[in-house]
Amino acid sequence: MEFRSLFVLLIAAHFFNGACSTNFTIKNNCPYTIWPATQTGQGQQVSLGFEISALDIINFNISAPWSGRIWSRFVCSNAAGNFTCLSGDCGSGKLECDGAGGQPPATLVQFNLAEFGNDFYDVSIVDGFNLPVLVTPQDGSGCYSTGCPTDINAVCPRAFSVKNTDDGTIGCKSACTAFHRPIYCCTEYYGTPKTCGPTKYSNFFKRLCPQAYSYAYDDKTSTFTCMAGINYAITFCP
Ligand SMILES: *[C@@H]1O[C@H](CO)[C@@H](O)[C@H](O)[C@H]1NC(C)=O
Ligand SMILES: *[C@@H]1O[C@H](CO)[C@@H](O)[C@H](O)[C@H]1NC(C)=O
Ligand SMILES: *[C@@H]1O[C@H](CO)[C@@H](O)[C@H](O)[C@H]1NC(C)=O
Repeated sequence: MEFRSLFVLLIAAHFFNGACSTNFTIKNNCPYTIWPATQTGQGQQVSLGFEISALDIINFNISAPWSGRIWSRFVCSNAAGNFTCLSGDCGSGKLECDGAGGQPPATLVQFNLAEFGNDFYDVSIVDGFNLPVLVTPQDGSGCYSTGCPTDINAVCPRAFSVKNTDDGTIGCKSACTAFHRPIYCCTEYYGTPKTCGPTKYSNFFKRLCPQAYSYAYDDKTSTFTCMAGINYAITFCP
């Protein structure tokens, strides 16, 4: 009897390990090296950082339930062993971010991987944009890809752009990131779905990336869902 329940437990553990492990593939289609990272919101702490050369691919597992973000840094250097980036830096001084997020503006890929039921995923440019990205569910039927595949840096208004040392644009701030006003950040009086709506600034981003979150309550057109247990590909510069 005891042996039998242990056996059942082991089988169950094995099944749930397999079933609840999500395999992420990150592809770098940009013509330069990028350094993606993870930030955990809830669940097991997953603090991963990667260096991916142009046109290269990496993959890793995360076991559900987990919620968190994946974004990428670029224009990075490791001078004197202090790893820093001009775009998306998290301030850790190394490849892993130890729980810190990327400094805005950064395109965020957000996941809520449920243990049972559904995964939820979205791409957010609420805090601005730094790299185009596409998220593709790998094997779920009826699951949709989402992303912000447009290079917003190329059309970023001067007042919002973050510049590289060579004056190229490596990030485009949202109105919230640029002006820190409650009306753009959906804070204070504007901290509810009823009081905070799109603005001419968020609409500028929404037109370029209709599937991405352009302001905090942009849920209707920006949240995607798929059955839990499937895998995802994330492509930068799709
Ligand atoms: C990732 O998860 C799959 C099952 O989903 C498993 O077969 C594989 O061994 C895992 N890989 C690593 C490195 O944990
Ligand atoms: C994820 O899936 C890919 C492709 O199916 C496979 O090559 C890779 O080994 C998997 N990664 C892990 C960490 O299991
Ligand atoms: C690493 O570089 C950053 C950015 O230049 C700087 O703010 C930080 O103080 C440096 N850290 C160390 C340990 O030198």
